[in-house]
Amino acid sequence: MNIAILCSGNGTNLQAIIDGVKSGYIPAKIALVASDNKDAYALTRAKQAGIDTLVLNKKDFTSREEFDKEIVKNLKKRGAELIVLAGFMRLLSPYFIKEYKNRIMNIHPALLPSFKGTRGIKDALESGVKVTGPTVHFVDEKLDHGPIILQKAVEVRGDDTEEALLERVHAEEHKIYPEAVKLFVEGRLKIEGRRVRIL
Ligand code: GRF
Repeated sequence: MNIAILCSGNGTNLQAIIDGVKSGYIPAKIALVASDNKDAYALTRAKQAGIDTLVLNKKDFTSREEFDKEIVKNLKKRGAELIVLAGFMRLLSPYFIKEYKNRIMNIHPALLPSFKGTRGIKDALESGVKVTGPTVHFVDEKLDHGPIILQKAVEVRGDDTEEALLERVHAEEHKIYPEAVKLFVEGRLKIEGRRVRIL
């Protein structure tokens, strides 16, 4: 199966998936890494692994949908069957989501449905929860909302800082994201309404 990964930043989750493919844990090919940020370190990681990259600048497009049409065109050209969002800091248009219904995954650094949005770590820390952790979910039309695939609990310590908590949440992301991709590629994820059954 060809998969594509969309990133805007550092790309540590991308790296975990690249490593998973390289070792044979994920039986798939990464056909494309695309970014909306030409300076994303994720692009360097992709190039180092010999993966094709694509950079799109939102300023070159008149609307979100036009931007997404260009990405989708490239994804189709490469035969991508699964789209993995790994720190992609753009909302997808309904057009994109429809084109790849139930074939787009995202990772969020909190236990959804808690702490949606871009401040998942900070909001969890400030709320005083004792447990947080990453969520991998399918993407639907609402932000951080689609059916949940995997989650991992991470204990919040009394003396935690945002940086310390982020580091521990990230370490778990790097385990559950490759696992979720593997499960999808192997055809072992079955969506039943809001629930995802692992076969
Ligand atoms: C992760 O914390 C993920 O949960 C969020 O964006 C961050 C991406 O980090 N969606 P990286 O670029 O994979 O290092």
